[in-house]
Amino acid sequence: MHPMMNIAVRAARSAGNILLRYYERTDTLKVTQKGLNDFVSEVDRASEQAIIDTLRSSYPNHAILAEESGNKSGNDYQWIIDPLDGTTNYLHGFPQFSISIALKHRGVLEHGLVYDPLRDEIFTASRGEGALLNDRRIRVTNRKSLDGALLGTGFPYRDQSHLDAYLGMFRALIKDTAGIRRPGSAALDLAYVAAGRLDGFWELGLSEWDFAAGALLVKEAGGTVSDINGGGRFFETGNIIAGGLRLHSAMASVIRPHLTDHLRG
Ligand code: IPD
Ligand code: CA
Ligand code: CA
Repeated sequence: MHPMMNIAVRAARSAGNILLRYYERTDTLKVTQKGLNDFVSEVDRASEQAIIDTLRSSYPNHAILAEESGNKSGNDYQWIIDPLDGTTNYLHGFPQFSISIALKHRGVLEHGLVYDPLRDEIFTASRGEGALLNDRRIRVTNRKSLDGALLGTGFPYRDQSHLDAYLGMFRALIKDTAGIRRPGSAALDLAYVAAGRLDGFWELGLSEWDFAAGALLVKEAGGTVSDINGGGRFFETGNIIAGGLRLHSAMASVIRPHLTDHLRG
């Protein structure tokens, strides 16, 4: 394993211990609201601090983009951190959440990991080296059409400006597939696409920390990641389609007629 990935794994495990420790008593947590349906707890902050402390002790000058503490720039290396992806699940005791850590070098994704502390599953990928679940190599499925496919998604529960367009996509895809799941942690959803547990995934309005690691996992597992138009601007737009090559293009075709001018833009 690359030394930088080693440090990232160490950071994720120490954050995972914090998430597990508080998980037994989420009712006692101090929770504040950042916006509509957007909550942050002391656990999000403690997890983020543990990750940053571990990364900083090895790489004191690297830039960091972290969900709760913002952006420190000024270095070619940039860590992108979601210390608890699936906060709503976590606060309800719904057992689906993760930690996501990615590293970019000069804007190119080099390493990514998604860690599910409850199942002790760690999904890792380094550019050009494939993707792993714990020590086992993973690949996207090679499903060729939507028929029989299991898709993951996220509902637009905060910014609802694209709700109608989203529901149009949802209605079209649910008719053509074996099922759609909304597990509640986008980072883990993408890791599941990489591991072949989901055939594909789409969501609108994500932030960079939700998908940076997951996008590299899907690519390194042989899959395709695009924006909602099928193009390459998902880092700019936060709108994503991911899956195996053929399935991805089948999803993109069904989604396309439901795009508004704004989503196409
Ligand atoms: C959220 C989760 C969720 C997705 C949201 C994200 P958070 O992240 O990934 O699955 O639907 O768009 O914001 O707020 O729990 O870190
Ligand atoms: Ca998130
Ligand atoms: Ca989060």
